[in-house]
Amino acid sequence: TTTIGIIGAMDEEISLLLQGMVEQEQPEVHAGVSFVKGRFHGKNVVVCKSGVGKVNAAITTQVLIDCFGAGVIWFTGVAGALDPALNIGDIVISSSCQQHDMDCSPLGYRRGITPFQEVSDFPADPRYIKLAEDACSRVCKQHNYLIGRVLSGDQFVADSEVVRFLYEVMDGACVEMEGAAIGQVCHTNSVPYVILRSMSDKADGTANVNFAEFTVAASKRSFEIVEDMIQHV
Ligand code: ADE
Repeated sequence: TTTIGIIGAMDEEISLLLQGMVEQEQPEVHAGVSFVKGRFHGKNVVVCKSGVGKVNAAITTQVLIDCFGAGVIWFTGVAGALDPALNIGDIVISSSCQQHDMDCSPLGYRRGITPFQEVSDFPADPRYIKLAEDACSRVCKQHNYLIGRVLSGDQFVADSEVVRFLYEVMDGACVEMEGAAIGQVCHTNSVPYVILRSMSDKADGTANVNFAEFTVAASKRSFEIVEDMIQHV
């Protein structure tokens, strides 16, 4: 059966997974990242903490594919909301992911476009989008969820003008710091993926305070959806 690689960027995002896994093997370290193999609700999983940002996420994703034979990659964690319909705690399931900080506009490229590359907006896998959507419809009783574009960059966004740009011009539902790197590596390796994010903040002037307050609760919500997904995959 397929091994599912599950990535979080921070301890809060993977702690409940590590608690829930059984038959855990001794962690294996590759490229400075610790990977834990085991079973979760009867499925083979490898869980790891990538660290923050696109380079860490890219390294981790490639190791999951090459060293652990992951046949699919899921990300679980938190993000800043861009779509005004989203409140703290709400969920975004990636339809696709794009790097919002890729900027070759002086050369005539739109923001987010990587020159000389066929794809800059990496589509998530329809089967796993549907799995996540069905999980949300079962699990998300008090919170909204939507399927939308995830924007990733190596910056913590805490500015409502930036939010306006990322939402209105770049069509982002939420902003975080890893999804597009995972999406690009998965695309390059023909491995399906989906990113799941619960909103910890609104990426505005209060984002730092809200992030500190709501990251644990939002991480738990994302975990609960992953747990439902794994039971139905
Ligand atoms: N992850 C959670 N909130 C974020 C924000 N405001 N910007 C970037 N990544 C985030």
